[in-house]
Amino acid sequence: MEQFGPETYGERVADVYDEWYKPVDIAAEVALLTELAAGGRALELGIGTGRIAVPLAARGVEVHGIDASPAMVEQMRAKPGGDAIRVTIGDMADVPVEGRFALVFVVFNTFFQLYSQESQLRCFANVARHLEPGGRFLLHVFVPDTTRVESGEHVSVREASLDRVRLDATVFSALDQRLDTTQVRITENGIRLVHAKMRFAWPPELDLMATLAGLTLEHRWATFDKQPFSAASAFHVSVYRA
Ligand SMILES: C[S@@+](CC[C@H](N)C(=O)[O-])C[C@H]1O[C@@H](n2cnc3c(N)ncnc32)[C@H](O)[C@@H]1O
Repeated sequence: MEQFGPETYGERVADVYDEWYKPVDIAAEVALLTELAAGGRALELGIGTGRIAVPLAARGVEVHGIDASPAMVEQMRAKPGGDAIRVTIGDMADVPVEGRFALVFVVFNTFFQLYSQESQLRCFANVARHLEPGGRFLLHVFVPDTTRVESGEHVSVREASLDRVRLDATVFSALDQRLDTTQVRITENGIRLVHAKMRFAWPPELDLMATLAGLTLEHRWATFDKQPFSAASAFHVSVYRA
């Protein structure tokens, strides 16, 4: 089997990504990102197929992107407005772009695809170097669920319909905060596998990484429409300020 690298997930999922993650309501997400960009330039880490970047650019925000997978970016290029967004192919831990931004953002658990603590720390430090004075870093990730981590493994059924089944088979490691998931799609034509590796972190660890990078937590919400974050929240939208 090929070695797993930063580009592997995207290269394997690109042609079905938009179908598997059918547009949910992204209006609040795009509105908050527009507000935080405050008329300045925005940079998305792991821009993918432009699910968020394309509608954000349509709101008049100058959006740049980084992604490790050319196949994902190719999907974005095919969308109206997608070919106007400047994208750098590379590792988001390195933030390999020129200049500074009013807003850097990474959504939909993508930050956790940096699957070591070292690469996550490096990402925070490099983001801080690319923020304008007073600029913001927005992070949207899940809150790790300790009951799942303790059980070590988990299978969830994403879809069970007449002609196809989608399963996520996940192995958790509490020791290094890793979760390795293989998304399985079974149809009459065969089986499709997409593997993703993540390294999860609880909010206090993310805040410590931010502090080490010279960033300060400004907001933490449960949702993009600014619902309060609580112990019961499954996700958080955290905004760090330079
Ligand atoms: C779950 S998708 C999210 C795409 C998009 N942000 C969205 O919300 O739909 C994760 C994206 O991050 C990219 N990615 C994963 N690891 C990366 C890395 N180390 N550097 C750059 N891109 C990476 C993948 O290729 C993929 O396009």
